[in-house]
Parts: sequence; structure tokens; C-alpha cells
Amino acid sequence: MTLKNMETLKKEDMNLADKIYIFDTTLRDGEQTPGVALTVDEKIQIAQKLNNLGVDKIEVGFPASSPGEVNAARKIKARDLDSTLVGLARCLVSDIDAVIDADLDYVHSFIGTSPLHRDYKLKMSKDEIVQKAVNIVEYAKDHGLTVEFSAEDATRTERDFLFEIFNEVVGAGADFLDIPDTVGVLTPIVTHELITDLKNNFKTPLSVHFHNDFGLATANTLTAIECGANQAHVTVNGVGERTGNCSLEELVMSLKVAYGIDLGLDTARFYSLSTLVSRLTGIKMPINKPIVGANAFAHESGIHVHGILNNASTYEPMSPEMVGHSRRIVLGKHTGVNALKSKLKDYHIDLNENQFRKVFDEIKSLGDSGKCVTDDDLIAIAITELSSARETPIVIKGLSISMGANVSPTATVKLEIDGVEKETASTGVGPVDAALNAVRELIQDTLDIELEEYNLEAITGGTDALAEVFVISSDSNGNRSTGRSTNQDIVMASILAVLDSINKLLLIKRSI
Ligand code: KIV
Ligand code: ZN
Repeated sequence: MTLKNMETLKKEDMNLADKIYIFDTTLRDGEQTPGVALTVDEKIQIAQKLNNLGVDKIEVGFPASSPGEVNAARKIKARDLDSTLVGLARCLVSDIDAVIDADLDYVHSFIGTSPLHRDYKLKMSKDEIVQKAVNIVEYAKDHGLTVEFSAEDATRTERDFLFEIFNEVVGAGADFLDIPDTVGVLTPIVTHELITDLKNNFKTPLSVHFHNDFGLATANTLTAIECGANQAHVTVNGVGERTGNCSLEELVMSLKVAYGIDLGLDTARFYSLSTLVSRLTGIKMPINKPIVGANAFAHESGIHVHGILNNASTYEPMSPEMVGHSRRIVLGKHTGVNALKSKLKDYHIDLNENQFRKVFDEIKSLGDSGKCVTDDDLIAIAITELSSARETPIVIKGLSISMGANVSPTATVKLEIDGVEKETASTGVGPVDAALNAVRELIQDTLDIELEEYNLEAITGGTDALAEVFVISSDSNGNRSTGRSTNQDIVMASILAVLDSINKLLLIKRSI
């Protein structure tokens, strides 16, 4: 699906490169996020998924920084992935040797070029910096590596010096020239001017590495691509130093949907990749994060949900399936009649007009009191409404337990099911188990249930303590319901809680 009528975006007005490479640096710049450290195994998992997604290049780490980085790079290399693997290096022979030692064939070598980096970090003259860069590119090329050269802090470097160092490293054999916007100061219009100037002066493929300090990394990267950049550095979820880098999923989906440029990645893998990276890095996604946030395809307001239910494109620029995400209709103060009807239909709950109005009003008033109504809340409200209008289908009529030394306890349970009394005796590992086995046997022709959760709590102290039992049961159609009961007898409390949940499931089944 691509957007139509985008008058301002015409591919023929852009200077697009024939091939746009995706260079993912989640495992390097992403790992430089404060507080993030990935194990070798975690790096392998992410690299494998990036490869399956189809990114062209994966920067696997900074081999000179630790033996673990070399080890991780080697192990990822051993996977024989299709993506090209890259190692970061400063302009030091020992760093290039570490990349070679890590079994990598592609080095991303960098040196600071801006006045700030020259004067305060490197304390080197322009000439010394150029010489170092040239020497290292030559050394890496002599050792058979593909070389991408980054002028760190390029966007705060004097234009003539940037051109000078790029000219020199191209002469030394650099295969890619990279423009890091190290502290994210670019704006789209400045990016346009800079990349156009570079493209007019260099034939060597141009890469961009943009940080997100002002939230402009994706916009700037798109602008660079419009102006002919051949490669974009990105990270999953936009993780990276400080506020991160250009986000892989935002860039690729903008290109695909808004520009109509399909890079051939398997975009349906984005959501699961995002979840994995979020879990392994410990960086939670804001709910409103584009593409992969929890709200990316969530709708609450009546007007929007009405539109979505008729045609999802009314309020979604792309389908959740395109990125492996899912649509959510959220209930709350903005909920409309259509959203509630659709939710009830999803759960096979059929209410009459009066019951529907009561449930609708309750959801609105919960919303007004600041509460977001979950699906479980809705089921509970609707079932309560249904139960109050109908007879309880299953009622307990009798219970006795017999226990002896070295014999399993036996429970005899009598139930009235839809007005008919039935009785059976069952054994179990304990009295509760025996009683629940008897219940299961008695209701087996009425409903096939599974007890998913059973929690017992004593709510007062002493031997006459009240027992509170909470259960969750499900039926074979996937409907789930909770049950709760309080009784002085644990076995009775357990049976009543289970019957409470079974009766709700029966009401759902019968309302379909
Ligand atoms: O942001 C940056 O400047 C970098 C360099 C190592 C390229 O990450
Ligand atoms: Zn960076």
C-alpha cells in the first residue's frame, strides 16, 4: 500500500540513488546507549533477526574495545549470514588489527573532524588528522578490508575541511564516505544543502549516520536519501547514544508507505524484532513510538473506531500486519457504540438493548473516572449484566468428603445443572482436587473447561479462617473467565469459585 495524492513527494523530483543500503548499528551505537550491555548470545540473537529481516549491513561492535566484542563478532560471522558484517575502529592500527582478528572484512573507521573534536578531544591539527585518516585507510585496504570512513561530528566541521579529508581518504581507497551528525544538529533543509553539495562533488557512495537529539533523525535521513545518499545508518527502535539514532523501522516504513520505495525488507518482522531489542536492552518503547509502540494501531474515540471498523485506512496509514503488529480497540470515555458492539462480538457476548445501554454507560463512567477499561473489565461488566438477568445454570446441592490413612480422599458432589440434579464421587491427591475432579465429571456434557489458575488465600487468621479462592477457567472456544468465592471451608470455597467461573462461561456460550 502506498499513499496517493502526495503532491509534494514525486520521485522524479528527487535525486534517488539506484540502490539504498541499510546499515544497522543496533549492536554498536545501540549498545552504546547508557546502561545497555548485550551478552554474546544476545548479540547473536539480534544479528540473526536483522539478517532475516534483510538489512544489508550489520555493525556488530567495536572489536578493539574488549575481547568479548571480538568473540561476539567471530560467533556472528560463524553464522554465515547474508548481511555484511562491520566492525568499528578508530584511526589506529591496533583497532584495524582487532577488526581483522574478529574475522570481519568491512571496517567502519572514524576520526573527529570538527573544531571541537580537534581542539578539545584529539588535540591535533587538521593536517595530523588527515594524515592519520589516510594512513589508516591505506593500512585497512592493504589488509583487504572494505573501508567506510566517518568524519565524526561532520555536521559541525568546516565544509572545506570536510571536503579536504574526504578527498584524501577517497585517494587512499575509501569505499564509502559517512557523514555522522554526531550530536543531531541537522535540520532537513541543511541536510538537503549538505548532501546535495557532497553528491555534486564525490562519486564515492555516501552514507549518513544521524542522531536524534532534536527528534529529527528520521526526517533528516529521509531528506539525505531524497538528495542521493546511498546508505542510511539506523538502529532498531532508534536506540543509540543519548536520544538515539535514526530508527530502522521508521525509516524503512516511511520509504515504503510515504515514498513508495520498497527496499525489499521483510517488514512484517519489525514488531517482533523491536520487542526482542526492547527486552534485551531493557529500553522500553514509549506507547506512542511510531510503527512499534503499543498505541501505533490502537483506537479509542468513537469517531475513529467507527471509521476503522468500516475501512481501517480511514485512520491508519498502513496496516498493522505490514509490520507484524496488531490493531487494538481500546474502551474508555471516548468509546462509541460501534466499538463496544465490535468488542462484544469478538467475545461472543450478546446483550439486549437495555443490557447494552447499561454496559455502555458503565464503561463511559469508568472512563470519566480516569480508568482505561481493559477487555477483562468489559467481560466482567457484561457478564455481571447477563447474570443478573438470568438464572444461574449450575448450583451446588451437596458435598461430602471422606478421608482415611493411606487412601486417596474421595469427594461426593451433587450439582443441579439446568434444573436436573446429578451426583458423583471422585478421588484426588487432596480433598480440593477430589472435589474439583467430581465437578469436572458432572459438567463434562455441559461444558469443556480447563482450570488455568487457582489461588487460595486465608483472609482471616486462626483455624476458623475464611478461605478466599480465585480461579481463571477457559473453555474450548478460548473464552476465559474469572471466579471468586469466600467460605470457611476450603473445599467449598474452591467449588463455588470454580462454579462461578463456569457459570459465566456458560452464559457466554449460550449468548452466542
Ligand atoms: O555518532 C557518531 O559520530 C558515531 C561515530 C562513531 C561514527 O557513532
Ligand atoms: Zn553515532
